[in-house]
Amino acid sequence: MEQYAIKGGNALVGEVEIGGAKNAALGILAASLMTDETVLIDNLPDVRDINVMIQAMESIGVVVERIDRHTVKVNGGSTHSTVVDGDYIKKIRASYYLVGALLGKYSSAEVKLPGGCNIGTRAIDQHLKGFRALGARDAGVSGGMIVAHADHLKGAHIYLDMVTVGATINLMLAAVMAEGQTTIENAAKEPHVVDVANFLNCMGASIKGAGTDVIRIRGVAGLHGTEYTIIPDQIEAGTFMFAAAVTKGDVTVKNVIPKHLESITSKLVEIGCEVEESDDAVRVVASKPLLHTHVKTLPYPGFPTDMQPQITVALGLAEGTSIVTESIFENRFKYVEELVRMGAGIKVEGNTAIIEGVKGYTGAGITAPDLRAGAALVLAALAADGVSSVDDIKYIERGYEDFHLKLQSLGAEIEKVESERELQKFRLRVG
Ligand code: EPU
Repeated sequence: MEQYAIKGGNALVGEVEIGGAKNAALGILAASLMTDETVLIDNLPDVRDINVMIQAMESIGVVVERIDRHTVKVNGGSTHSTVVDGDYIKKIRASYYLVGALLGKYSSAEVKLPGGCNIGTRAIDQHLKGFRALGARDAGVSGGMIVAHADHLKGAHIYLDMVTVGATINLMLAAVMAEGQTTIENAAKEPHVVDVANFLNCMGASIKGAGTDVIRIRGVAGLHGTEYTIIPDQIEAGTFMFAAAVTKGDVTVKNVIPKHLESITSKLVEIGCEVEESDDAVRVVASKPLLHTHVKTLPYPGFPTDMQPQITVALGLAEGTSIVTESIFENRFKYVEELVRMGAGIKVEGNTAIIEGVKGYTGAGITAPDLRAGAALVLAALAADGVSSVDDIKYIERGYEDFHLKLQSLGAEIEKVESERELQKFRLRVG
């Protein structure tokens, strides 16, 4: 089984290029099948979740042509089925965007229930409520599939009971070609919601207000081809910013939109890092001891839940007591057990982690429980004294392209190994 072998202790220094936003790309790929014309999508990250999504689209006849590692041409004109039931599709969360896209285009969709990281119950009631409001009266779960069929989709007024990225994107997809006006209230404002809306508008949709909590969609008769570049990944960028913080490094993350990183930047400044912003790059210098703080995850523009494990790893090394409250997912502290085995002083009570900072972590054999927690444990290992191995890196590869290679380019001693023997060789080599 593939693992990362890591020798901690090197300050990360240098520049790193951030790729396209995974969670925008997943919505954009689904949206791209909604026209019969060809769509060119650029800055697509080459990560596992994206490749599963492409495989699912191909399974129903969508033609996806790879132009290069980060560019695809998609043509949805030859879609021959609205049923997506391959077992692999359960691996990703965003498979549910195929429901919105197929329902919006063909008034019919059946897609296997999604999987994704086990970070909470992750209900889909708001997606279903919205589909029903748009005219898919049977929208629900049946035989392990999400099903939704409509005679005729009609615009509706939808109030979301909680801020949900998934339902906001899915309902935009379902509503773009519905007759009349749709209003989504209490919509998610994340940059990737805005990116999917911008992409749909480039295809001829009429969506206003994305990025605010009220989105208004005027249904159009059809969508057309376009060319589109996906925004940079806010969470990949934030992860490298925290990699600088925990290794006392000096890292410039390039190809980012600094505005999307404001909540991350402000916490880094609060804990004692220097952050310099330019047009499309952010430099993080961590030359002083880290300071304790309190943080609560919130929908955008609040501090992202997808950065919660990374900030916890940093605060574990900050002097004094810090408190991290997770308000989006109820099961997102599973990695704390692993971190404690590396010497962290963290107690979890309900949705709160109480952190007593320690002087340092020590290397250990640890397992990635999910995507972001896995990346955060890698950061802990980079900061630790000694050698660590991180298991189950398949989770990390769901959302980070060339993670270990990018870290290596910043001076990290990290390698992907495939056996216990290779791990031993790594240990011998790094002493
Ligand atoms: N929720 C409901 N009912 C619904 C939808 C959501 O109760 O119908 C709840 C969820 O259980 C959760 C909260 O609302 O407690 C927010 O869920 P949301 O829909 O925003 O999350 P998601 O669409 O399942 C996406 C990202 C996650 C990211 C969250 C929050 C994708 C594929 N996933 O998940 O990304 O954490 O938004 O920003 O876009 C990741 O990339 O590692 C990841 C987990």
